[in-house]
Amino acid sequence: MPQTVIAGNWKMYKTQSEAKLFINQFLQTLGDQQLGDRQILLCVPYTDLAILQTFSHNSPVAIGAQNVHWAECGAYTGEISAPMLVELGIKYVIIGHSERRQFFGETDHTVNLRLRAAQKFGITPILCVGESKPQRDAGETEAFIFSQLEQGLRGVDQGNLIIAYEPIWAIGTGDTCPASEANRVIGLIRQQLDNPNITIQYGGSVKPDNIDEIMAQPAINGVLVGGASLDPHSFARIVAYS
Ligand code: PGA
Repeated sequence: MPQTVIAGNWKMYKTQSEAKLFINQFLQTLGDQQLGDRQILLCVPYTDLAILQTFSHNSPVAIGAQNVHWAECGAYTGEISAPMLVELGIKYVIIGHSERRQFFGETDHTVNLRLRAAQKFGITPILCVGESKPQRDAGETEAFIFSQLEQGLRGVDQGNLIIAYEPIWAIGTGDTCPASEANRVIGLIRQQLDNPNITIQYGGSVKPDNIDEIMAQPAINGVLVGGASLDPHSFARIVAYS
């Protein structure tokens, strides 16, 4: 059975002091609820990693990064390497988010390099894939995602990987992909993989009022949550889905 992973993606939100306030309120709201084997994860800006590692210690929350460079070190101004994350105890990293692809020139090739670099240092990457609205309207959803998978996953260990299906048109728009459609696409993604037990998440306008329906879908093993992960009460409701 794939593990259930409920992850927040803070994007470029929250300073260290805001992050500290969040984690205290979030853990307080969670209290001692029994969440079974659900993994709770917060993928945050680099500057928040250390403080969140400290304040989430001995809690059910793991902390992840939002990107990683493929080199171990080098003349790459502005980049962060896997060994730098490992030293902070980071075990997860988002790779190939559509915002990285759209605004920062990320390609399937660089996504592939980053995936392999993360795995080499024992970090579990979350590979993001998903189609744009024009691609969906043109009936190219499946072909586009399969191509992202084929190129992105070359030489990648499918034993240490999470995939997030994030239709671009559903990200930050409030326009959630119908749960049954997300379930369908995720089922197709799974058929493309060598390892059928990979955790595959849905992402795109996940909120407290649609989480239960999304998590009721048989093919969906978790969610990647942007906006609704910024509020401790809303994220606590999401991780406690029924
Ligand atoms: P959203 O973002 O939940 O705000 O739509 C999801 C994401 O970009 O991972």
